[in-house]
Amino acid sequence: MESFYQLLLVGMFIVALPIHSSSSPPTRQFLFNVEWKNVRRLCQTKSLLTVNGKYPGPTIIIHEGDNVQVTVNNRVAENTTIHWHGIRQLRTGWADGPAYITQCPIGAGKSYTYKFTVIDQRGTVWWHSHFSWQRASVYGAFIIYPRMPYPFIPTPVRPDIPIIFGEWWDEEVEAIENDMMLYGGGPNSSDAYTINGLPGPLYPCSNKDTFIQRVEPGKTYLLRIINAALNSELFFAVANHTLTVVEIDAVYTKPFETSAIMITPGQTTNVLLTTNQIPDSTNMFVMAARPYLTSVFPFDNSTTIGFLKYESSNFEKKKQTSMLVSVPPPPYSLPQNLPPMEDTGFAMRFLNGLRSLASAEYPCRVPKKIDKRVVTTISLNLQDCPPNQRCKGYRDKRFLASMNNQSFIRPSRSILETYYKKLRVGLSLNFPEKPPHEFNYTGVDPVTENMNAEFGTKLVKVPYGTRLEIVLQDTNFLNPENHPIHVHGHNFFVVGRGFGNFDSSKDPSYYNLVDPPERNTVAVPMGGWAAIRLNADNPGVWFIHCHLEEHTTWGLAMGFIVENGPKPSQCVLPPPSDLPSC
Ligand code: C2O
Repeated sequence: MESFYQLLLVGMFIVALPIHSSSSPPTRQFLFNVEWKNVRRLCQTKSLLTVNGKYPGPTIIIHEGDNVQVTVNNRVAENTTIHWHGIRQLRTGWADGPAYITQCPIGAGKSYTYKFTVIDQRGTVWWHSHFSWQRASVYGAFIIYPRMPYPFIPTPVRPDIPIIFGEWWDEEVEAIENDMMLYGGGPNSSDAYTINGLPGPLYPCSNKDTFIQRVEPGKTYLLRIINAALNSELFFAVANHTLTVVEIDAVYTKPFETSAIMITPGQTTNVLLTTNQIPDSTNMFVMAARPYLTSVFPFDNSTTIGFLKYESSNFEKKKQTSMLVSVPPPPYSLPQNLPPMEDTGFAMRFLNGLRSLASAEYPCRVPKKIDKRVVTTISLNLQDCPPNQRCKGYRDKRFLASMNNQSFIRPSRSILETYYKKLRVGLSLNFPEKPPHEFNYTGVDPVTENMNAEFGTKLVKVPYGTRLEIVLQDTNFLNPENHPIHVHGHNFFVVGRGFGNFDSSKDPSYYNLVDPPERNTVAVPMGGWAAIRLNADNPGVWFIHCHLEEHTTWGLAMGFIVENGPKPSQCVLPPPSDLPSC
């Protein structure tokens, strides 16, 4: 089998490096054709939406400081967009990608070139479609190599090892989404989890679709782990090996040794792995991912596995001949260090171990003081079934989700455009800054407290430079659940988290304002809360949402506007001329 790394490089299309002096950074150009491709997994072939026919899509590899231009040609009948998840998009919100938030979708047969500069960021992020549920198959890695050496030792050998988790559905994903919207029931769960698009030998007809990474003994490798799954938080472990986390969401951390990781959709985690174990006669070690379960909804309880294959003799020679590596014979035992599915204790210990590096070169810029605090519930809702309709949610109602009881509706044109052009249609800047109705959010069965959600497109607006704190409060309504909340346009610092209800008179005194983890997606503890702080230094309109796609669909989202600052360099750039229109 050709190594995954090689496949990615073939899929990549780097066009030109225009003439540049040492002071102006190079421009890296990529071409993304969104197209259908027949892909065979789990004993059947289906037509899959892809970029350049690749599943997962091509990896983008650039250096910190580079200008990036990605031309997206939409060659299918559906609308599409691409989001560069974790790229801050300083002043270039037009290139962020969420449909109806910062752009109208790219229509059938149309093109749009995303142009942005990657400023002061390094590490692993990723890209995915941000239109409906297309990111089920339209996703890939986005690697930013640093200008400076890594701040950790030992320096890993090349190549890096990409580990991208996904979910595979036998069914059409579009049909699942439509069905769920029509009847208000929970979505069907996936049929498999995948590592780099490959489910592995625990699934039917999948021996040949197994990720096998060949490694040399006695070396240290860098694993770039991305959770691109739609609806599942995951545990991941490699049998017998410890992992050292060195970076999360493209920000360096204090090196942190762990037996396994928990990773939510939207998050990335770079770990070092040293090949220092004694293999059995197969020379293989199992790596495995399975869900971290906090929901009572039906879910995919399967496990995806792949293998690390130690190859000592003539390693260099074998690497060049693309020798076939095949799956060892069953049975396969899962790594003993893989946490059980409901191990919230492990998840919390792991998250508590993540700290910003906070060194002189990589300072932690957490706001020590704040100008504004927004407290919002993140909640599922049960909505009364509209008259003359059949609803398939609990108690024949329909499922919804909300923040401060506002179920977010994406408008029919881009909010950024509406705001930038001062069109003043349907923009309400009155997102409630605390829960509209106070109750014991995490108490026993707050079912009687549930209200039908309100629908709307409500936003919070803050002046440029606001030091903003957002407290995300889970609720026990329907069920308490761990929600991965993602913020566009900004990294934030996770200054506090806890179980139960946030107490503004007590909890802030325990915040970590020294080395809190900096990231773009936070796992809010089930039946608990998380407090995040950010410097609102990126003017534009930014989406905040749960990165479980089913919850975004149900409305677990909000938006915030950062106004222009006084200096020209603090203002949103004008829209590009090829910006799609609705
Ligand atoms: Cu990764 Cu709004 O998304």
